[in-house]
Amino acid sequence: MTYRRLFVGSSCLAILISGGAFAAGTDFTQYVNVLFPGVVAAPFAMVKLGPDVQSGTKDAYSGYLPDGKVWGFSMMHESGTGGAPKYGVVSQMPVVGDVSNPLAELSQSRSAPDQGSIGSYMSSLANGVVVELSATEHAGLYRYTFPEEQTSSIVIDISHVLPSFRGLGWEQHYSGGNFSFYNDDHYEGSGTYNNGWNLSPDWTIYFCGTFSQAPSSLLTFKGEGTKLASYDSTTSVSGTERLGGVFTFNSSSIRSRVGVSFISSSKACQNLDNEILESTTLESLVDTAKKRWNAEVFSKIQISSTDVADLKLLYSSMLGMFIIPSNRSGENPGWSSDEPYYDDVFTFWDTHRCHTSLFHILQPVAYEEFIRSSIDIWRHDGFLPDARSSNFNGRVQGGSNADNVLADAYVKGVRGAIDWEDGFSAMVTDGETTPANNNDPKAPDSSTKEGRGALPDWLEYGYVTPRFSRAVSRAVEYSTNDFGLYQVAKGLGRQEDAEKYLNRSRYWRNHWDPDCTSNNHSGFVVPRLANGSFVPQDPLTCDGCYWDDVYYEDNAWVYSLNAIHDVATLKEYVGGDEMFADRINKLFDLNIFNAGNEPSFTSPYLYNFIPGMQYMSVRRSRQISKLYNSGTAGLPGNSDAGAMESNLLWHMIGLWPMTIGLGNGRTLAISAQSGNKDTAFYVQSLKVNGEPWDKAWLAWEDVFADGGSMEFVLGPDPMDWATGEPPPSPASGDLRLS
Ligand SMILES: *[C@@H]1O[C@H](CO)[C@@H](O)[C@H](O)[C@H]1NC(C)=O
Ligand SMILES: *[C@@H]1O[C@H](CO)[C@@H](O)[C@H](O)[C@H]1NC(C)=O
Ligand SMILES: *[C@@H]1O[C@H](CO)[C@@H](O)[C@H](O)[C@H]1NC(C)=O
Ligand SMILES: *[C@@H]1O[C@H](CO)[C@@H](O)[C@H](O)[C@H]1NC(C)=O
Ligand SMILES: *[C@@H]1O[C@H](CO)[C@@H](O)[C@H](O)[C@H]1NC(C)=O
Ligand SMILES: *[C@@H]1O[C@H](CO)[C@@H](O)[C@H](O)[C@H]1NC(C)=O
Repeated sequence: MTYRRLFVGSSCLAILISGGAFAAGTDFTQYVNVLFPGVVAAPFAMVKLGPDVQSGTKDAYSGYLPDGKVWGFSMMHESGTGGAPKYGVVSQMPVVGDVSNPLAELSQSRSAPDQGSIGSYMSSLANGVVVELSATEHAGLYRYTFPEEQTSSIVIDISHVLPSFRGLGWEQHYSGGNFSFYNDDHYEGSGTYNNGWNLSPDWTIYFCGTFSQAPSSLLTFKGEGTKLASYDSTTSVSGTERLGGVFTFNSSSIRSRVGVSFISSSKACQNLDNEILESTTLESLVDTAKKRWNAEVFSKIQISSTDVADLKLLYSSMLGMFIIPSNRSGENPGWSSDEPYYDDVFTFWDTHRCHTSLFHILQPVAYEEFIRSSIDIWRHDGFLPDARSSNFNGRVQGGSNADNVLADAYVKGVRGAIDWEDGFSAMVTDGETTPANNNDPKAPDSSTKEGRGALPDWLEYGYVTPRFSRAVSRAVEYSTNDFGLYQVAKGLGRQEDAEKYLNRSRYWRNHWDPDCTSNNHSGFVVPRLANGSFVPQDPLTCDGCYWDDVYYEDNAWVYSLNAIHDVATLKEYVGGDEMFADRINKLFDLNIFNAGNEPSFTSPYLYNFIPGMQYMSVRRSRQISKLYNSGTAGLPGNSDAGAMESNLLWHMIGLWPMTIGLGNGRTLAISAQSGNKDTAFYVQSLKVNGEPWDKAWLAWEDVFADGGSMEFVLGPDPMDWATGEPPPSPASGDLRLS
């Protein structure tokens, strides 16, 4: 059997989901809060244009912070990530009056809170300048309104890049650039940067820009720190120093157009010419952005609710989900290929549980391109990506979770132009080839760049010893990764491989110490030495839960429930249904469950494996969704590149994916009859495609492959309606494959 089931959580909304676009009509963008993440961007666009804000030593992950001073407006951002800020490059900063030293502090407070809606962004600065922004895939438009009768200046500083104040060695560095001004009043150049959370080597971005009128003066500058080495009318500067240009205008109203490219500055000029002309108005770009987001994204989920809070939450979440990854097809400097290219996968550790599955359903075309791109990255870089950004694969927190994403796509029938033989080979690289150590100071024992750093132990012992950092959490994830290899091997008719990887998918069991106890439970995944002995472990603690600890970002209580492909065995290990239910309850009662962190995302749905307890998944789902709202602080953790938003969306949809599947433009209509959405939310009965349904789970084919319907009747009291077949535990049965 394949592994593509969804659990019934709760649904208190009538909801319509489609992989294809609905007829135009409603403007859903009115419900979207763009201040989180605080950039303007087309769906999956390369350019994400927005303000860069300084506020003490707070890291501004996507540039925007609600409080603080604006120190530039830059073209490149990565939305919703943690770790440390990435990008914040190709910026410009408006200054009133002549600029005596462009290297000095030029930041400005805002005179009013920033405003924005899909396609447009506006900042009002204390110096009286109003900055309006809009963007296309590879270009941006700035519209400046300066105070009247004063000199208007715009500073372009190539060294501008988002800083990190965490002191963890993950800050970005500027390593040089160039800037040239041409007779026809356009300028071009490039900047080179490195590091950031994924420890990337130097990467270069090119830009090409022009203004709506000729400057009354142009000066270029160079210097170190705030000390100028040159500041004059030379038209070209280059080097490793801070450098750039200062444009001065005789007008209070100035438009600035900029194109970017990872290939060359002439490609940046071409991108600009293709997307934003001198005659293009900001209003027309905003109009196009709204039309695109409505047609390509928002209209794909429609709910019957007229509650504005529900609508804001839904559509703001969809913005967070589809602003990255970035479609950089045609913009890959690493190799030339006819395959699509997507960057800013940040990260599969965050997104593989529930983001990629919804990505597939709602954006099937982009999703197929994204899978092809991942395989092409393996072809040319040797490994599938994990937290790819600035064209560099790292950094890996747990397993090689691209394996789960590919398997999910495979079992849900995603085919198109994907070469699945290569896809499987890419997964086998993860499963069989130890990546070279990148000597990460945070975890020097093995690679954090790609693949499975702790693979040698996995292959030798069937578990990971503490000579490798994050030994237990990596092992638990390697099990699910190998389950992914099993699924694809089986589908491709590779029986021997399938048996091998199914066997390996059970290796999490080798970390199970039946004598490890906590809060009246015994049996947890714990560290294990090469000689076979378990290391004593308090399941409630994991020391720092970080890079060099045995569990990453969660403890043994959470990781012990993560063998979601092998639940029947897990249930047996913990002592049966009652003990299993009590374990899940304790995650909440003992405050272990963290709605803001991914390893426990699936735990509330494990009640579906216990006869008569489906209602508890509903109760937990309600509890968790209440932690979300559409404000700037509306997520219980950082967005993690849309993982949080997709988690919420599945809660709203009332299903939880255990692996991901194919959407082909059909519609799933979910309706719910309920007296009161706040008090009557327990499932009383369910019909699927018009027929009574007694299982707390669905297969992909039931409602997604060809579309379908789900009709819930909801009530105030739990009802034992899911009396049919329990959800499958595909890794728990006989090893012999049917
Ligand atoms: C600017 O730097 C880029 C990247 O290093 C290089 O390709 C280009 O030739 C340089 N241009 C000038 C004018 O120095
Ligand atoms: C600047 O503005 C003044 C007054 O409007 C005008 O006379 C002058 O020609 C302008 N100079 C340039 C370079 O545009
Ligand atoms: C990705 O970008 C390429 C190049 O711009 C474009 O041809 C393709 O249609 C884009 N994919 C999607 C899903 O928009
Ligand atoms: C499963 O893995 C174990 C441990 O590596 C090995 O001893 C056993 O032979 C394997 N079984 C099969 C059927 O491959
Ligand atoms: C553990 O069991 C004891 C005895 O039944 C009970 O008193 C205690 O409350 C339980 N503790 C927890 C955390 O469940
Ligand atoms: C394994 O090694 C540990 C640490 O050296 C030791 O305490 C333990 O007794 C050993 N176990 C076995 C089974 O030899």
